[in-house]
Amino acid sequence: MSQENMTTSDPETTNTESDQLIDTDPGRGGLDESSGRGSVTSANTVIEARNVNVWYNDDQALNDIDMRIPKKQVTAMIGPSGCGKSTFLRCINRMNDLVDAARIEGELLFNGKNVYDSDVDPVALRRRIGMVFQHPNPFPKSIYDNVAYGLRLQGKTDNMDQRVEDALKSAALWDEVKDRLDESGTDLSGGQQQRLCIARAIAPDPEVLLMDEPASALDPVATSQVEDLIADLAEEYTVVIVTHNMQQAARISDKTAVFLTGGELVEFDDTQKIFENPESQRVEDYITGKFG
Ligand SMILES: Nc1ncnc2c1ncn2[C@@H]1O[C@H](COP(=O)(O)OP(=O)(O)OP(=O)(O)O)[C@@H](O)[C@H]1O
Ligand SMILES: [Mg+2]
Repeated sequence: MSQENMTTSDPETTNTESDQLIDTDPGRGGLDESSGRGSVTSANTVIEARNVNVWYNDDQALNDIDMRIPKKQVTAMIGPSGCGKSTFLRCINRMNDLVDAARIEGELLFNGKNVYDSDVDPVALRRRIGMVFQHPNPFPKSIYDNVAYGLRLQGKTDNMDQRVEDALKSAALWDEVKDRLDESGTDLSGGQQQRLCIARAIAPDPEVLLMDEPASALDPVATSQVEDLIADLAEEYTVVIVTHNMQQAARISDKTAVFLTGGELVEFDDTQKIFENPESQRVEDYITGKFG
């Protein structure tokens, strides 16, 4: 993927070009049961980590991660505090570039292109791979301007009202805010703010949404709304979510990756398999609460 392709502003063109980036090499197709790939075939892989190692100064945070994240599914990442979940998420859209101490080795492919190649523009990459954080962080601007923000940056100013409405509808927030679009995003409830942040992330029409514990600061009702929303979003987007809540991972994800202490990806498979019949004893111990 050239930098020009990644900065393309026309959504039609962007989709076409990103489709061309999908690795459809038949030589690597077919089911692959090897560790870390979770039966994800190369043809439906959007993100692929190959031997990813990350250090913060001299401390290793991720250890040889191999993983294929499938298109238009929800992939959950679980594991004890400090095992590297957020680090891995931030590597995918190069948010870790912003951390001086961080160093990465290995390859992280997005539709077959290494996002760490010198011709990739990280800002353009983050438009294709959006991010939602643990604490809702709307800008101190109107609800409308929050959603319009990324579109304006891209120069996508035509049909703005419609684009804003569509994003708010996709984020299941439209009905609650359609009569108060001029009010500040920061005046919404926590759950509404988080859905506003999701609307802001999806307005520029990304392909992948990374979510780092998006519901952990919300009450149960708002959590359940965000969970329902994530299931809907996976019809359009590839969703990668970090969660501390194992029930939540079991409820909303198709695939689950279990990271354990030492920054290791110990098991990655269908969510049902991970929770009902994991291969690894360490994963079983973690899932059943024996440690972690
Ligand atoms: N900016 C940073 N500078 C130095 N070390 C860091 C930084 N960010 C994370 N680390 C270290 O990297 C390791 C992995 O951290 P990370 O935040 O990825 O874990 P996590 O699995 O997301 O944990 P949690 O569940 O608590 O959010 C930890 O040992 C952490 O202290
Ligand atoms: Mg974290």
